[in-house]
Amino acid sequence: MDDSSDFIEPASAHDDDSSLHVHDADFHAVTSDYDPTLHERNESLVGSVTSSVNEHIYENGRRYHKYKSGRYPIPNDDKEASRETVRNALFQELLGGRLHLSPIGDAPHNIMDIGTGFGDWAIDMADRYPSARVVGLDLSPIQSVWIPPNVEFVVDDVEDNAWIHGSDYDLVHLRMMAVILKSPATVAATAFQHIKPGGWIEFHEVYPRIGCHDDTMPDDYVVGRFYRLVARELQRQHGWDLYAAEHLPAQLEQIGFVNIQRKVCHVPIGYWPKDPHRMQHAFLFEETLAEFIAAMLAKPLNTRVHDIASLETGEILTAQDIDALCAEVQAALCARNVHAYIPFHFVWAQKPI
Ligand SMILES: C[S@@+](CC[C@H](N)C(=O)[O-])C[C@H]1O[C@@H](n2cnc3c(N)ncnc32)[C@H](O)[C@@H]1O
Repeated sequence: MDDSSDFIEPASAHDDDSSLHVHDADFHAVTSDYDPTLHERNESLVGSVTSSVNEHIYENGRRYHKYKSGRYPIPNDDKEASRETVRNALFQELLGGRLHLSPIGDAPHNIMDIGTGFGDWAIDMADRYPSARVVGLDLSPIQSVWIPPNVEFVVDDVEDNAWIHGSDYDLVHLRMMAVILKSPATVAATAFQHIKPGGWIEFHEVYPRIGCHDDTMPDDYVVGRFYRLVARELQRQHGWDLYAAEHLPAQLEQIGFVNIQRKVCHVPIGYWPKDPHRMQHAFLFEETLAEFIAAMLAKPLNTRVHDIASLETGEILTAQDIDALCAEVQAALCARNVHAYIPFHFVWAQKPI
């Protein structure tokens, strides 16, 4: 493979955290004393069931969503907010400052961000397109209350409810969502019904099959081993498919989308790039992966909660085994001798006019 960091191709259907030292008592989930009036001040936040949408749960030293509790095993606290901000910067860097690749023109009217998280992308889009009403939907009520007037945040489960809050969308955007949805194809098919003719759907995803442009990466490269273990555990515990991005073009074609395109960017792992721009990508990725490790240790890789078998031997791993693996990954994130990368996939497609 050549050394270019990214490429765009028409995609055909045939293309294929904080406290690890916790006491047992910490494992009992407790309802937070979070002040819901903070979010009540944001009049556009819609509670689709009860006031519990505005509450949180604390487990293993981290904070999690309470509405549809357990659905999403990654925290929604300040550490996660920081990680999301850094990842948001990385995505924008990869796209040369752009927020999307779909050609939606200068004055779109309706934009939806599914799984908006802390709402960074939705807020940036609202600032960039004052003509648009931007809806950000998420399980967690964690979005800023200081938002542009044309943004609306909705607490909802995209897989369980009639989630579309409006129709005639110019763009439905999902970032880091294909991996966590039970069925990205079903969500995309619902979106198809509510996107206007000629409108777009766009996915931004990490695709954690670690690659290398030369022969410096050993077969048992630790970052690859870490992702394979996480992929198996998230599949086993939550039904996630960490490699869902590879199926998106075929799924979108089957739904009826046209003009399906894919761009792949290779984000360096480690301090090996000579180009300062790519080095910046490596730094941003290092920071997001370090916090991702902490989030994984709090729940999916927590040996107090789950029996986690070694991929190699099948033996149950101890907390020390997992800590050692994670420490090795941290070291790999600043190593210079392995020229590894992780692909980021951008897939976008149009509803026929
Ligand atoms: C990996 S984060 C991505 C956040 C944001 N899109 C970004 O790129 O920064 C996934 C988000 O999806 C939300 N989420 C997970 N399952 C969901 C569901 N079924 N319905 C709505 N939101 C969901 C989570 O609460 C979380 O904020």
